[in-house]
Amino acid sequence: MAEDRAEVVSVIYKRDHISLLDQRLLPRKKKYVRLSTIHDVWHAIHRLQVRGAPAIGITAAFGLAVWANRWRSPDYSAFLDALEIAKSELASSRPTAVNLFWALDRVVNRAKQTGSVEEAKLAIEAEAIQIQAEDEETCRKIGEYGLSLFADEQKIMTICNAGSIATARYGTALAPFYLAKEAGWNLHIYACETRPLLQGARLTTWELQQANIDVTLITDNMAAHTMRTKKIDAVIVGCDRVARNGDVANKIGTLGLALQAKALDIPFYVAAPLSTFDIDTPTGEEIPIEERSSKEVSFFGEVNTAPNHTKVFNPAFDVTPASYITALITEYGIFEPNNIERLIERKTKEIAS
Ligand code: MRU
Repeated sequence: MAEDRAEVVSVIYKRDHISLLDQRLLPRKKKYVRLSTIHDVWHAIHRLQVRGAPAIGITAAFGLAVWANRWRSPDYSAFLDALEIAKSELASSRPTAVNLFWALDRVVNRAKQTGSVEEAKLAIEAEAIQIQAEDEETCRKIGEYGLSLFADEQKIMTICNAGSIATARYGTALAPFYLAKEAGWNLHIYACETRPLLQGARLTTWELQQANIDVTLITDNMAAHTMRTKKIDAVIVGCDRVARNGDVANKIGTLGLALQAKALDIPFYVAAPLSTFDIDTPTGEEIPIEERSSKEVSFFGEVNTAPNHTKVFNPAFDVTPASYITALITEYGIFEPNNIERLIERKTKEIAS
């Protein structure tokens, strides 16, 4: 299945290991690495070999499945204790994307509903496989709703990579582009390069080129000028966490695009599956923002671009207030961010079940 489709599969479960597309090497090399331990999975998430909120959750879920498959003792209570430790370790790999914690909780809760190690192993595996399968369906629906907001030949801007390799398939923000292609449309995508780690330049351009979708690369500081001079019709971005009030955290630079889009009267859309909604976080203010190594900013690849010991601030995400968002595109439809009660209700029920 993975081989005969346009989109690249980034996370493949193999029971005793995960075969993971190493996104750090793209676009130079398309290489899969083998993750066999919790430690391997932690590092892969932390180092961004896998990145993008849904893909992080899927990888962590499969990480627990691989770990469980290697467990040998029949002692169920020892198994559940060790499972909690493995879960906590994976939960410490990155702080912002809530899908990580959501997927880990789903898998561990399912294991706790069983009565033996053997049953728990099967349940963990089944839940992880289900999370990945559901994500593919979810992303397709997001793509369908997203497509209804666009028209043939439009020019759309995006940042980072919220595409197929950041999810099970299709992506969130990029999903409408794949469905547009299926419908025979020509959308023209402007991808912001996404400093400092260049997910837009390295991943979005590569991924869209694989699918023959028209894409033009710009640096992040060209966004406002490009919106105005190229007459961008809409901006669409992915999301790492939606707070209860509709504020969203996404890749650093997203807030800037939202402010620019507002000033230029361009619709600003956020594509987010329900797994990215966090009803325990009241507003964007409370979303933990990951800060990463200063070297990501003071070096460009192996070359340093600032004097040694330059002070650096390197937040990986920012928060866009709900008031700057035209609509949230979810698998349940399109919602104004100050009108998401129905989603909150659905999420509350999902947690209770
Ligand atoms: O640091 P990254 O590359 O994991 O950041 C990813 C993003 O900000 C994406 O937009 C988000 O996770 C959505 S992916 C469908």
